[in-house]
Amino acid sequence: MSSAQGSDRKFKVAVVGATGAVGAALLEILAERRFPARSVVALASERSAGSEVEYGRRKLVVQDLDQYDFAGTDIALFSAGGSTSAKYAPRAAAAGCYVVDNSSEFRYVEGIPLVVAEVNPEAIAQASEGRIIANPNCSTMQMLVALAPIHRQAGIERINVATYQSVSGAGRSAMEELGRQTAALLNFQTPQCERFPVQIAFNVIPQIDRFEDNGYTREEMKMVWETQKILDPQIRVNATAVRVPVFYGHAEAVHLETRDAISADQVRQLLAQAPGVELVDDREPGGYPTPVTHAAGADPVYVGRIREDLSHPKGLSMWIVADNIRKGAALNAIQIAELLVEHYL
Ligand code: A2P
Repeated sequence: MSSAQGSDRKFKVAVVGATGAVGAALLEILAERRFPARSVVALASERSAGSEVEYGRRKLVVQDLDQYDFAGTDIALFSAGGSTSAKYAPRAAAAGCYVVDNSSEFRYVEGIPLVVAEVNPEAIAQASEGRIIANPNCSTMQMLVALAPIHRQAGIERINVATYQSVSGAGRSAMEELGRQTAALLNFQTPQCERFPVQIAFNVIPQIDRFEDNGYTREEMKMVWETQKILDPQIRVNATAVRVPVFYGHAEAVHLETRDAISADQVRQLLAQAPGVELVDDREPGGYPTPVTHAAGADPVYVGRIREDLSHPKGLSMWIVADNIRKGAALNAIQIAELLVEHYL
């Protein structure tokens, strides 16, 4: 173990899926946070090899992932879907490269750490052999940044959550579909559905990812499995995941029950100090966070509408909002990369 702090060591970084929605944010945030990169390589499929993507003020020429040799690359940030990660992440790791993987391919594999930078950074140590670290699902990510301090203080026993998830979580093609459908409807034309099972413009869809045998969708089960892996296997989670016609930023209505009683005021005090959290909780019109007014393009997880549950003596309700592409995906991946540089490379 060594420390990059105070040193001028620089690292070779690859961004896999560089032409995608999360890939663009990865490149933007690497530049914004002045990640100590000696070089940054943009990788995508053969289809977009030769095209250009932005990295700060520079442009990078996209290379074909299939032709890329990971030997000599220190960190690869993968966001190109599960099948691409399944095929190429083990190859990169075998070449000695640390992989931070944004897909769900490795999240539930025992021995592969699943890390939220503010919640369980110590779990990265388990990756020293396998070199793959999984980045959690966007909805779990923002929920746990806000709930971990409450769990440590009062012991969360149960979480009931309904999500309001933006289309950017489903990638660029999904954002384009929302735009096209909205334009079609405003021009009295019939919208075409390709990316979503039903119309998303001016609608809400209670299905994200495929259905599981138990009647929940996979997105809902991700919140169960990932909360238990990251925070505490004893926590019971019940989720309803809903896609809404918003471009950037996921919102969540969260109801939780704790072992010890904790008041709304105590929760406000806790969250005012919590890393990565910003409290926006004024009981007046607009005194709460929304995807458009707060989250889109911003780093924090915003929490508002904190109140004691009228129907349960140890229940609390709150509203959690964050940019799903930044904290929900790219930012956390880069925070993990920063921890690797700081402690493990
Ligand atoms: P490409 O542009 O070449 O298709 P999004 O989630 O916004 O749809 O982005 C998906 C990202 O994953 C894109 O950068 C896409 O690249 C990349 N990708 C998809 N399939 C592959 C693949 N087989 N190999 C490499 N990159 C891939």
